[in-house]
Amino acid sequence: MTASAPDFDTAYFRSALGRFATGVTLVTSTGQDGRPIGLTVSSFNSVSLDPPLVLWSLSTKASTLSQFEKAERYVIHVLGAQQLKLASRFASGPQAERFRDIPLGRAPNGTLMLDDPETSAWFECYNWARHAAGDHIIFIGQVERCHRSFTQPLVYHAGDFELTPSQEPLSNK
Ligand SMILES: Cc1cc2nc3c(=O)[nH]c(=O)nc-3n(C[C@H](O)[C@H](O)[C@H](O)COP(=O)(O)O)c2cc1C
Repeated sequence: MTASAPDFDTAYFRSALGRFATGVTLVTSTGQDGRPIGLTVSSFNSVSLDPPLVLWSLSTKASTLSQFEKAERYVIHVLGAQQLKLASRFASGPQAERFRDIPLGRAPNGTLMLDDPETSAWFECYNWARHAAGDHIIFIGQVERCHRSFTQPLVYHAGDFELTPSQEPLSNK
């Protein structure tokens, strides 16, 4: 059996996908030339608890594609509501500009990451597997280290950033 041809155009498909509210992440690593690489990613999701696996997908047009494919590890930062500017900054423009004047650190296994207390959570991942899927590559990361805080999350919905509806403090669950 084969799939039937779509009866919608790409713009409508994108708009329909946009009805799914997501968090926003920033993925960082180091290129083979030793320079930092990073981008804003909303395709992050959980996959498996044991072993601990997560996924995200990267456009085949991304300038960093071959570098992320070869990277041993990367860090996925779940952004907090206060990091909206960071999310915009890491969605366009030259890679070198994105990291200008941004405090950086290293995750426990040495992977380049943001040094920002507003980050809601981060996952240091071993670059476990990659699968080609249409115009994106699905990256599956094995989480080696992670950390979470209780900052309000940044939310992306219908092609725009939104603040979380509740300003109540999050519980410690
Ligand atoms: C909210 C948001 C979510 C995004 N999610 C993804 C994603 O999941 N995968 C992806 O490849 N690009 C995603 N992008 C676009 C990339 O951030 C953007 O194409 C990338 O930074 C371009 O980098 P480059 O110029 O180095 O190729 C997203 C952009 C925004 C604003």
